[in-house]
Amino acid sequence: MELFEAIRDRKSIRRFKDTPVPDHDIARMIEAGRLAPSANNVQPWSFLVVKDRTVLKQMAQAVRDMLDRMIPHAEDERHAQRLTAYKSNYYVFFENAPACIVVLMDPYGASSVRLLEKMGYSIEEMERLRPHPGLQSVSAAIQNLLLAAHALGYGACWMTGPLVAQEAFEKLLGYGKERTAVALIPVGVPAENPPSRARKSRDEIMKIVG
Ligand SMILES: Cc1cc2nc3c(=O)[nH]c(=O)nc-3n(C[C@H](O)[C@H](O)[C@H](O)COP(=O)(O)O)c2cc1C
Repeated sequence: MELFEAIRDRKSIRRFKDTPVPDHDIARMIEAGRLAPSANNVQPWSFLVVKDRTVLKQMAQAVRDMLDRMIPHAEDERHAQRLTAYKSNYYVFFENAPACIVVLMDPYGASSVRLLEKMGYSIEEMERLRPHPGLQSVSAAIQNLLLAAHALGYGACWMTGPLVAQEAFEKLLGYGKERTAVALIPVGVPAENPPSRARKSRDEIMKIVG
C-alpha cells in the first residue's frame, strides 16, 4: 500500500470480527512503532499485547467503575449522559477486540527540563518550552503502528479515554508505577466501515511565514 494512500484511508475502527490477529502481524505493527523517531532517540515506549478476553473484560469493568465514580461530579445533566454513554461504547469497546495493545511510556527526564526547574520556571512555563518530548515520541510510535495495522488490512483505534482506569490497569497488567499507559489500541479485522471523519482545510491550518 502506498504511504499517502494509507495515511488518507486509515480511520478509527471500533467494531471487530472475532477472527484472531496472528502474533506475527502484531509484531509487524509494533516493529513500525519501534522505528519511530524519538526525542534524543530515547525510545521511551513499550507495548503490552492483551489477548485474554477475561483480562480485557476486567479492564473494561474497571473503566465502567471509574465512570460510575465520575458521573456524580459531572458538570451538568448532558455531561452525565455523555459519561454514561461512554460506559457502553467510546471508552470500553476495546473489550471486544481480538487483541488490544497497551502502549506504555517510560519517564522522560530531559536534562534541559531539570535546568529550567533550577532556573525557577513553573511547570506551565516549562511545558511551553519543552512540550512533552516523551509523549510526543510515543505518539509518533502510535501513529506508525496505526498505519501499519491499516496497511496489513486490520482496523484499530487510538484510545485514551479508558485510561481513567490507569490505577486498575497497573494492577491488572502489573506494569508498575514507573511506567504510564498512554494509549490502548484495540486491533482486529474490521466489522464496520464508517465514513471518514472531516478534517479542517489545509488553508485553515497552514500559513507560510516569511
Ligand atoms: C489521543 C487520541 C485519543 C483518542 N481516544 C479515543 C477514545 O478514547 N475512544 C475512541 O473511541 N476514540 C478515540 N480516539 C479516536 C478519535 O476519536 C478519532 O481519531 C477522530 O475522531 C478522527 O477519526 P479517525 O481516526 O477515524 O480519522 C482518540 C484519538 C486520539 C488521537
